[in-house]
Parts: sequence; structure tokens; C-alpha cells
Amino acid sequence: MAFSFFFRDLPTLETAVQHMVAQTMGRSRIRVWVAGSAKGQEVYTLAMLLAEKMGYFSFQNLRIDATDIEAEFGEIIQRGIYPKGDLERIPKHFFDRYFQPAEQEGHFQVIEPIRRRITFTHHDLLTLKPIGEGISLIVCKNVLLHFQPAERVQVFKMFHHSLSADSILANENTQKLPGEIVPLFHQVASDTQVYRKAQPNA
Ligand SMILES: C[S@@+](CC[C@H](N)C(=O)[O-])C[C@H]1O[C@@H](n2cnc3c(N)ncnc32)[C@H](O)[C@@H]1O
Repeated sequence: MAFSFFFRDLPTLETAVQHMVAQTMGRSRIRVWVAGSAKGQEVYTLAMLLAEKMGYFSFQNLRIDATDIEAEFGEIIQRGIYPKGDLERIPKHFFDRYFQPAEQEGHFQVIEPIRRRITFTHHDLLTLKPIGEGISLIVCKNVLLHFQPAERVQVFKMFHHSLSADSILANENTQKLPGEIVPLFHQVASDTQVYRKAQPNA
């Protein structure tokens, strides 16, 4: 199921962005991974929040990898075109700033400076193969609840390995970290499932 919507669970994304931006300030290359991106609603919400918080110049140093097991979501994300009805939850400030009318009537496209930062890769989390290392923020929400407990533990270990020291992991509020994973992360705020990597890779 690829259910998602723009500005879903904003407090978690805002907390993750706040901690990631503080951690990466001044860096020339910053990488973010949105795992289980569906059709792009979450990754574009995150990109807009990051653009606001990082400012124009730092935002150019960002690469956001969106991945999903459904390969066909790639084209939707790269085009960034959505019907007006999908965009109604977007606050006016963000809509006015980051969307432009598309050729198709009743549709709007995410502006190019935001789209350019996002790369889609077809990826199955259960292969346990990370897309890279040295990542500053991983967002994986409403995906792992469908996995077996042992698979979840393995995926969290992969995320831990992919993050650089002190970097941030965000998952959905209904999912707590499995007991075995708790020592690997510190929760940054008690009201969201946002964590900072606590231990270096083995
Ligand atoms: C419910 S949607 C969540 C979308 C978004 N993260 C959100 O929270 O709004 C779950 C997404 O996870 C993807 N997914 C399911 N199993 C996966 C796997 N093994 N590897 C990668 N993505 C997977 C689905 O295709 C779907 O797009």
C-alpha cells in the first residue's frame, strides 16, 4: 500500500530537519535518504522544509535519495506533477513558493530547484543493502510496520550503519525502536520518533 499525503506527521519531519540542519551546518555535501517514499508526497514535504531551514546556498549541497520497492513511482517523483486535490493540505506559503501550474489543467508541478535535489532509486529494504554511507538523515515512515520483527531489527541495523556519526533517523510515531536497537540511538524528543545515532559502526 502506497498511502501517503503531503505534510503528513509534520512534527516528526520538523524535528528531524531541525536536528539534521544543526548537525550539518557548513558541510559541502549532505545526503538524506527517504526510504519507502511512495509517490513523493513525503520526500517533497521534507525537501520544502529543508529548503526553508537551510537557505538557498546550503540547499544546493543536498542530495535526497528517495527509494521504494515500486519502481514506477520513480517517474512520478522525478516529474513532480500532482493534481490540485492532492495539494490541499499544503500550507499556502509552501504552495505559493514551491509549486507552479503544470501544462495539464488542474495539475501543479514542484519547481525545478526542489526536484533537482531528489534522485529516485528502485530499492527493496529487505535486501538489507544500504544505498550508501555517511548519510545525515534517514526518514522511514509507515513502512516497517508491515515487516516481521526480525526483519525490522535488520533494517534498523542497516540504517545505523548508513548514518554518519551523530546523524538522525526518523520513523513513524506508532513504531518504537525494537529493544535490541535501543542502545544504538538516542531519542532527541520524547514526543516524536526521531533519533540520533549513538554508537559508531562496529
Ligand atoms: C504507506 S506507504 C508510506 C509512504 C510514506 N513514507 C509516508 O509515510 O507517507 C509505504 C511505502 O513503502 C513501500 N514499501 C513496502 N515494502 C517495501 C520494501 N520492502 N522496500 C522498500 N519500500 C517498501 C511501499 O511501496 C509504499 O510506497
